[in-house]
Amino acid sequence: MARFQFNFAFIAFLITTITLTTNPRALSSDSESDSFSIIDFDSNLLFHQDYSPPSPPPPPPHPPSASCTDDLGGIGSIDTACQIVTDVNLTRDVYIEGKGDFYIHPGVRFHCPNFGCSITINISGNFNLSVNSSILTGTFELVANNASFFNGSVVNTTGLAGDPPPQTSGTPQGLEGAGGGHGGRGACCLMDKDKLPEDVWGGDAYSWSSLQEPCSYGSKGGSTSKEVDYGGGGGGRVKMTVKEYLVLDGAVLADGGSGGVKGGGGSGGSIHLKAYKM
Ligand SMILES: *[C@@H]1O[C@H](CO)[C@@H](O)[C@H](O)[C@H]1NC(C)=O
Ligand SMILES: *[C@@H]1O[C@H](CO)[C@@H](O)[C@H](O)[C@H]1NC(C)=O
Ligand SMILES: *[C@@H]1O[C@H](CO)[C@@H](O)[C@H](O)[C@H]1NC(C)=O
Ligand SMILES: *[C@@H]1O[C@H](CO)[C@@H](O)[C@H](O)[C@H]1NC(C)=O
Ligand SMILES: *[C@@H]1O[C@H](CO)[C@@H](O)[C@H](O)[C@H]1NC(C)=O
Ligand SMILES: *[C@@H]1O[C@H](CO)[C@@H](O)[C@H](O)[C@H]1NC(C)=O
Ligand SMILES: *[C@@H]1O[C@H](CO)[C@@H](O)[C@H](O)[C@H]1NC(C)=O
Repeated sequence: MARFQFNFAFIAFLITTITLTTNPRALSSDSESDSFSIIDFDSNLLFHQDYSPPSPPPPPPHPPSASCTDDLGGIGSIDTACQIVTDVNLTRDVYIEGKGDFYIHPGVRFHCPNFGCSITINISGNFNLSVNSSILTGTFELVANNASFFNGSVVNTTGLAGDPPPQTSGTPQGLEGAGGGHGGRGACCLMDKDKLPEDVWGGDAYSWSSLQEPCSYGSKGGSTSKEVDYGGGGGGRVKMTVKEYLVLDGAVLADGGSGGVKGGGGSGGSIHLKAYKM
């Protein structure tokens, strides 16, 4: 009996496959009311058609490393041990490279609260984000030997995405307050039978990076107002490459920002963690 059902299901699958192969429109042929079908949208000019992005340009060369004392107000040197003991409020991208350790002390805020701001820490030694301390930025990249993120700590890139890749805006058009897009199209909660589906979809899909090495910002949500941009920001990007041990007792966030009641939410960004042991 079970075998019969299996065979029946298999034949049904074969028939479906053959039907689809010979008549691709079978999926979307029902009627116009069926027009939320993804297949219809692929042939729509409003939809970006190129889903195999060209390989990204090589990254620009690194700027010289920031200094532990002069640029970051810390104690020590990045080639031995740099300790951040007071809040750091950055206003632009920072690149930190050295042969030593980097410790952010308990409760310290290491922030660059601008859209698309980037903090890179590339050290041969160990990294600690201590109890209740936080890193807030659009992109956080860490290369370290050991890395420990203590209880109550947070790496927060929520809603701080920079610009989307050039292939797509990712951001919804119109003023329906739709959500941002990422791997797929964003959604819109507007119920309006007089509008075409393509007028109320959320943000376009985009993917600059691969699934194996995600490295895309989320996109912004739409607004409901021409004058004020209520859309939530896209989520940021986090990448950590840890040679030995990654101990994560804190939070790592790349959420889309909230659009409140007058805007769509942003879509989430990317988190990519790689370690010998986690
Ligand atoms: C950080 O700097 C920005 C821009 O200069 C400023 O708007 C913000 O209030 C500062 N935040 C803190 C906590 O000092
Ligand atoms: C880290 O620094 C090394 C050289 O010290 C460089 O080759 C590498 O590209 C850097 N990685 C990142 C992510 O910046
Ligand atoms: C950094 O974290 C490691 C591992 O949890 C711990 O053994 C070490 O004492 C910490 N160092 C500092 C300076 O916080
Ligand atoms: C961390 O924050 C929690 C909750 O706010 C607090 O109870 C705890 O005492 C803090 N720990 C340290 C070491 O500051
Ligand atoms: C990395 O962490 C592991 C586990 O705590 C420890 O055994 C090892 O000595 C650390 N490596 C360095 C270079 O601190
Ligand atoms: C981590 O922090 C939370 C809240 O700050 C607290 O409830 C929890 O007991 C802490 N866990 C450990 C292992 O310290
Ligand atoms: C993360 O950042 C967002 C936006 O700045 C903020 O609303 C949120 O409270 C932060 N989350 C944590 C856990 O710090």
